[in-house]
Amino acid sequence: MSSEKNLNLTLNVWRQKNAQTEGGFETYAAPGISTDMSFLEMLDVVNEELITKGNDPIAFDHDCREGICGTCSMVIDGRPHGPKERTTACQLHMRSFKDGDTIAIEPWRAAAFPVQKDLIVDRGAFDRIIAAGGFISAPTGSAQDANALPVSKQNADLAMDAAACIGCGACVAACPNASAMLFVSAKVSQLALLPQGQPERYIRVRDMIAQMDAEEFGTCTNHGECEAACPKGISVENIARMNRDYLKASLTYRPEVASGGAG
Ligand code: SF4
Ligand code: FES
Repeated sequence: MSSEKNLNLTLNVWRQKNAQTEGGFETYAAPGISTDMSFLEMLDVVNEELITKGNDPIAFDHDCREGICGTCSMVIDGRPHGPKERTTACQLHMRSFKDGDTIAIEPWRAAAFPVQKDLIVDRGAFDRIIAAGGFISAPTGSAQDANALPVSKQNADLAMDAAACIGCGACVAACPNASAMLFVSAKVSQLALLPQGQPERYIRVRDMIAQMDAEEFGTCTNHGECEAACPKGISVENIARMNRDYLKASLTYRPEVASGGAG
């Protein structure tokens, strides 16, 4: 049985033509919104109305609408992904709001995530951090028998928890320093906890942090807002692990010596 009710809402939405122009809030009425709709479906309804009237629809990123792809970035009433814990904007339902509510909708705010249009930001900085080392390139041979490499249950669980990061960027948007430490530490940890990640473990952490700094993300000052905003519950323990690895990498780093030559 459907618990459907209809809400009459007012939306204050950030509108911005492109990265070069100034943005500002515009107000839209959103009448007759079913409580069974998702937040993105509600925006679809508002956009249909805007298109029908010949106006520019509100631009927002989305793909899976299942909490998997991490693209539905938006700040809803001051919180990345809205008021529900561990919920992406696409999985947020309108039953989380009350009839007559006014809802503010903005893009992620961080210098490293420039606004492209309305609610869409450029998160290419995350891709460049992954490209700096978030992978395994050491030869691992052909597929081995299952369990040929021993992995403790605890490490397997922690690696899986870290791998749950969907790269949405809510941690950056929630952090007062716009730090990307939670994201980077999840991507470092998922490989640092498994045998296959060991050959490049310290080069990886060094290079990914260097890229993170080059992208002008802020530093971590232990506010914990990132963990609170993360839709996948990534723990700040990953930041502690990354810091330990980074310290070890700094103490043991030697510039690479060119290979070749005699002997
Ligand atoms: S750590 Fe959490 S909030 Fe940050 S990018 Fe990953 S899933 Fe999103
Ligand atoms: S649209 Fe994929 S996580 Fe929201």
